[in-house]
Amino acid sequence: TRGRPLPPLRVLLAAPRGFCAGVRRAIDAVEQALRRFGPPVFVRRAIVHNLAVVRSLEAKGAIFVEELSEVPDGAVVILSAHGVARHVEADGRNRGQRVFNAICPLVAKVHQGVVRHHQDGRRVILIGHEGHPETIGTLGQLPEGAAFVVDSAEAVQMLDLDPGTPVAYAVQTTYSADEAAAIVAAIEARFSDARGPRGSDICYATTNRQAAVRSLAPRVDAMIVAGEHFSSNACRLAEVASAFGCPSVQLVADASHVDWSLLTRSRIVAITSAASTPEATVEGIVAALAGRFDVQVEEVEHVAETVSFKPLKIH
Ligand code: F3S
Repeated sequence: TRGRPLPPLRVLLAAPRGFCAGVRRAIDAVEQALRRFGPPVFVRRAIVHNLAVVRSLEAKGAIFVEELSEVPDGAVVILSAHGVARHVEADGRNRGQRVFNAICPLVAKVHQGVVRHHQDGRRVILIGHEGHPETIGTLGQLPEGAAFVVDSAEAVQMLDLDPGTPVAYAVQTTYSADEAAAIVAAIEARFSDARGPRGSDICYATTNRQAAVRSLAPRVDAMIVAGEHFSSNACRLAEVASAFGCPSVQLVADASHVDWSLLTRSRIVAITSAASTPEATVEGIVAALAGRFDVQVEEVEHVAETVSFKPLKIH
């Protein structure tokens, strides 16, 4: 080949990255339903927050809808991994739909926790992002007004509750571990009787992906996070990378969105991907890097991940 040699670039692939067990299980549920019942299989909302996943399931015969009112009576419908409010599943059954709930078991655990605390007479404080489907689903386990959503220590101060009120907090599974800790501290400082979840609500996949990014962030010139802007866990990975010292962080849906101007002076770049991002997206980014740099790719494993969930029964 002619021309100047490509500049060298070390590419560190964060591990763990990409699909978590809950995302795999939800995607498998749609594929299983397509095999078992044939198309169309309806899916309420993005099964996971990734457009490549949605497009590939559409190509196999899935039809994505916003609400169950758009699904014909008697049709098969899958509910997304993020979980739904209680009334949604019941609504589908009332319409004669065959409803399969692909809620991640770890989100279901958070649901059980808030229901238990509510039954114990506690006001529930959900640390989460207002309007995110998981937050809506968790709030929807309780009667209207029984829970509050907070996303900062200031929001805890603003809660219209007496400091003696028995409260319990829960956390969105994809929240930033560090930010959640600060908000929990504010809750415990303000309320004399505050309970938390058994263990952590922030799931293993979020914890591990954030930890891998934390350890790589100070060692690299730039970080590419493969994921959608509307994916909570993807956004948190980008924030963690910046917070832990990576000078140049970009969140991209795929290789076509990479801002090359941010990489011109880079010698070491890390790549990670959200829990809903297929590995093919990371491969595409590595291939694009290899077209512009003389790349040396290595995987840096922070912790080994072995979690898997029993498949959803589709019959
Ligand atoms: Fe479940 Fe965590 Fe994935 S809650 S869907 S395992 S990001």
